[in-house]
This record gives sequence, C-alpha cells and structure tokens, in this order.
Amino acid sequence: MAGLYLHIPFCKQKCHYCDFHFSVSRRQLPEMIQAMKRELVLRKDELTETIETIYWGGGTPSLLDERAYAELFETLYKHYKVGEEPEITLEANPDDLDKQKIKLLQDLSFNRISIGIQSFHDDELQMMNRVHTAKDAEYAVLRAQDAGFQNITIDLIYGMPQSNASKWEYNVEKFLQLQIPHLSSYALTVESKTALEHLIKIGKIAAVEEQLAFQQFHTLRNMMKQNGFDHYELSNYALPGFQSRHNVSYWKEKPYLGFGPSAHSFHETTRSWNVSNNAQYIKHLDNGELALEYEQLSVQERYNEYLMTGLRTKWGVDTRKIESNFGKECKIYFEKGALKYLNNQQLLYINNYEIVVNPEFYFSIDGIIADLFWV
Ligand SMILES: C[S@@+](CC[C@H](N)C(=O)[O-])C[C@H]1O[C@@H](n2cnc3c(N)ncnc32)[C@H](O)[C@@H]1O
Ligand code: SF4
Repeated sequence: MAGLYLHIPFCKQKCHYCDFHFSVSRRQLPEMIQAMKRELVLRKDELTETIETIYWGGGTPSLLDERAYAELFETLYKHYKVGEEPEITLEANPDDLDKQKIKLLQDLSFNRISIGIQSFHDDELQMMNRVHTAKDAEYAVLRAQDAGFQNITIDLIYGMPQSNASKWEYNVEKFLQLQIPHLSSYALTVESKTALEHLIKIGKIAAVEEQLAFQQFHTLRNMMKQNGFDHYELSNYALPGFQSRHNVSYWKEKPYLGFGPSAHSFHETTRSWNVSNNAQYIKHLDNGELALEYEQLSVQERYNEYLMTGLRTKWGVDTRKIESNFGKECKIYFEKGALKYLNNQQLLYINNYEIVVNPEFYFSIDGIIADLFWV
C-alpha cells in the first residue's frame, strides 16, 4: 500500500499566514504540468506497492482546468499500479467550487474534497487575506453536497488574533450544522518571513495568544466528542468511515511519492524532496533529470520521526515495533528514560504494547515528544 501526492504550486493570492511553496503568477502553469508529467514517468519504477491514495495538494490544485487534470491523471494511471478503490482527494479553495467545477471533479473521479475554509467570519478571512467570504465557503460546501459528494472535509484555523470564545464556537457550530464528516483544525502558526509575522511586528495585527488557542482547542475537542467525532489525530476529527486514508498511511509510515516542486517522498529509510522553486523544477525536468535531493535516515532519525507522527495519533507507538525497527538499545532507552516519568503524570496511556498520548494533553504534545526523543 502506498500514496501519491501531487503539489500544484500556484495560488490566486497569498494568504498572510502561509509559507507553503506556491507562486501567484500562473505564467508557468502549462510548463509545470508538462514537467510534472515528466517526473511521473521518470519515477515510475521507484515503488512496487499498489497506490491506494492520490492526494492533490498545494498551493491551490482547484484552480486547474480540465486538460491539466486529465493529462496528469492519464500519465499517472499509465505508469502506476493503482488499487481498485483509491481515495482521490483534491484540496479546493471555496471560490473555485462552482457547479461546473464540481461536476468536472466528479467526472474525473475525485471522491474526496478538502475545502480550505479557515473561518466562517468575514473579518477573520479578510485579516488573513483570503480570496473568499464566509458565505462563499458555506455555499461551496452545499453545492458539493448537492452534487452528491459525501466525503468532504474542511480546514478551520483556531487561535486567530481577532477571535474569541463565542466566535470560535460559532465556527464549530457552523461546521456541525453543515453535516460534514471530517474536520482538520490547526492552531494558527506565525511562520517566519510571512506577512502575518510582519503585521504583528508593526502592530497592525494583535499577537497570537497561546491561552486562547489552548481554550479553543479544548472547546473544539469537547464539541466534536459530543457530536460523535473520533479525534484520531492531533488536528483531525472524523465520523466513522471518514478518516483520511491518505494521511493515515503517512502516519503509519507507508511509502509515498510526492511530485511537483517542494513535494516530499518517503520509502523505507529514504526521504527525498523536490526543489522549492518552480523555474528550477521545470528546468531540471525539461532536461530530463529529476529535481530531487535524497537523504538516508539514520536509526535515530527514524525513531524520532516515528514518535513525532505516531504519538500525534490515537494509535500511538508500538514498543514491539520500536525494538524490531530500531533495536533493543532504543527500546530500553524509550522505556527506561522519560517514559516512566511521563506515565506517572498521566500524560501517556500504556495499553499492552501501545503507548498513546492522552488526547487531553495533545496541545502540549511537542514537549512530551521532545522528552522521548533520542538525542
Ligand atoms: C497549504 S493549505 C492548502 C489548501 C488550500 N490552498 C487552502 O488555502 O485552503 C492547507 C491548510 O494548511 C493550513 N495552514 C497553512 N498555513 C497555516 C498556518 N500558518 N497556521 C495554521 N494553519 C495553516 C490551512 O488550514 C490550510 O487550509
Ligand atoms: S493557504 Fe492555500 S490559498 Fe492561501 S496561500 Fe497558502 S496554499 Fe495558497
């Protein structure tokens, strides 16, 4: 079992908080599609596993036209062994989801849409320089549902400077009213060199309050629990049957290949990533060469990575796997070290062989994981 990720590095405008790789000029879009097709062909023998999930992310993959989707799908299906019922997700911005686009997505066999809504308040959307309004976002969801899309997820950001307890509750209530089966919700991170960082520095936007984010995380967790959602990963909630198969396979260390500038790949002990520059990426592929850099992960790095992803999920980490994958020494380190100390404080559950972080403490998870790192 494996996953494919396609990174479409273009956006209509730059959201103030975002530091993902994208360009607001679409001049190179046609060449980019050709370059990504070449990358798909050049790497066709990298994986022997069947592809069970395909994820189109970005940037804004919903701004592509029919021909771009069709060409990339055609190349992908021609060169990769795709399973019988793959999960095929498209990250979509609300302003792209008109009736025609939704119909096209269905015809192209996308079966999951991830809509970046971020907030149902116009002042927050404006503050973040989003293209769409709250109403646009709501109608986009309703249109996708009317067209028959069931597997829908949305993104909401908490801990925003202009937010407060009742505004956040409204966001979660709106999500629940819309009867969407999956939610990804992230705490606003002030990334370096973003417009958000600058605007906070010059006092145009208030600083992010950690305490507000903490409260909103718990409000969200409680409201989602009361409504039958499974909090299966730090930032993800699903109704039964609607977990993201693609993301779960990342967290369970299944191999994946990422195509397009800045996309990462992982297979066994190797991590690789494409150059985060559209022109350089296109130039390499035009010359028939990959724009990839590779890194061989050490046992220590793989163990730390395993903790980083595993402990953020409800499945936690498996001590048997720690021994078989990283060696006895590592297992002793894990068990004897910080683990007992953390266990005494009820931060971790120990369930036979599985070690799971108590979700009540997810908000402080980075500190917990750092205590268990092999340094
Ligand atoms: C990189 S975006 C791509 C999806 C799509 N372009 C959109 O804007 O909805 C994926 C998600 O990451 C989240 N995100 C990006 N930057 C973030 C930040 N600095 N803090 C919190 N969440 C962030 C947003 O929720 C966003 O929907
Ligand atoms: S949040 Fe999405 S739309 Fe906004 S700049 Fe980032 S990738 Fe583009």
